[in-house]
Amino acid sequence: MPGPKLAISRLTKRFLDLDVLHEIDVEVEEGEFISVVGPSGCGKTTFLRIVAGLEKATAGEVRLDGEVVRKPGADRGFVFQADNLLPWRTVFANAIVGPEIGGRAGAEERKSTLDLLRLVGLAGFENYYPRQLSGGMRQRVNLARALAIDPKILLMDEPFSALDAQTREIMQMELLRIWEKGRKTALFVTHQIDEAVYLSDRVLVFARRPGRIREAVEIDLPRPRPLSIKRTAEFVRYVDRIWKLIEDDVRASVLNPDD
Ligand SMILES: Nc1ncnc2c1ncn2[C@@H]1O[C@H](COP(=O)(O)OP(=O)(O)O)[C@@H](O)[C@H]1O
Ligand SMILES: [Mg+2]
Repeated sequence: MPGPKLAISRLTKRFLDLDVLHEIDVEVEEGEFISVVGPSGCGKTTFLRIVAGLEKATAGEVRLDGEVVRKPGADRGFVFQADNLLPWRTVFANAIVGPEIGGRAGAEERKSTLDLLRLVGLAGFENYYPRQLSGGMRQRVNLARALAIDPKILLMDEPFSALDAQTREIMQMELLRIWEKGRKTALFVTHQIDEAVYLSDRVLVFARRPGRIREAVEIDLPRPRPLSIKRTAEFVRYVDRIWKLIEDDVRASVLNPDD
């Protein structure tokens, strides 16, 4: 039997005297969609940045397909909260930037990038510039760009949090539609519980100070999931259960953000 796609063991991170993550253990199977939820400041972004290779762990390790992650690599696609598109490049030129950096932006990659832009709903916008797009469309470009390198895993840090509520829901639905096509292993960070439940096979509930996994909640909802699933009793039960797990932490982080 093959090992897990992603294996994180005893992952610990300290910034000077601040204990941010403490001995986190997680295994993610190929094709799983995992979310991380927790209050602001619990270390979600730090966790994802370590998996991305953008930040070094103080102790412990991250393995992707058995190989220890030490730096960023083309086997990981990253979508950040703030879109970081290059303003002087068109949608197409932004989407193909990964293969270009990798020195392989030939006819085949150009075609697959066009296919990806169609997949994310941007057919016809290839020659637009980022400033001509709405926030939701810019995050679609970011998603296409992350997928264009055909990564082993997709890492997303609150990619929809800057969007208005309706656009956000549409993007959640779109993300699942796109994900269903390839079922790429995904690690998605959010502070919104309903977003995590809607998207995921499993939700890792982080506790704060230091960040650790309080509980891993399996989300046993059928797929594909229409947005209306959010109104079912089963869905609401998952949201309530996770909310109860982090309620005290959220209250503490609102009252004492710096302690
Ligand atoms: N580069 C850094 N240097 C020092 N402290 C940091 C750094 N990055 C994050 N932190 C601190 O680590 C904690 C966790 O931050 P973060 O991972 O951004 O949390 P989250 O994404 O869950 O809101 C916060 O207290 C934050 O201030
Ligand atoms: Mg964060």
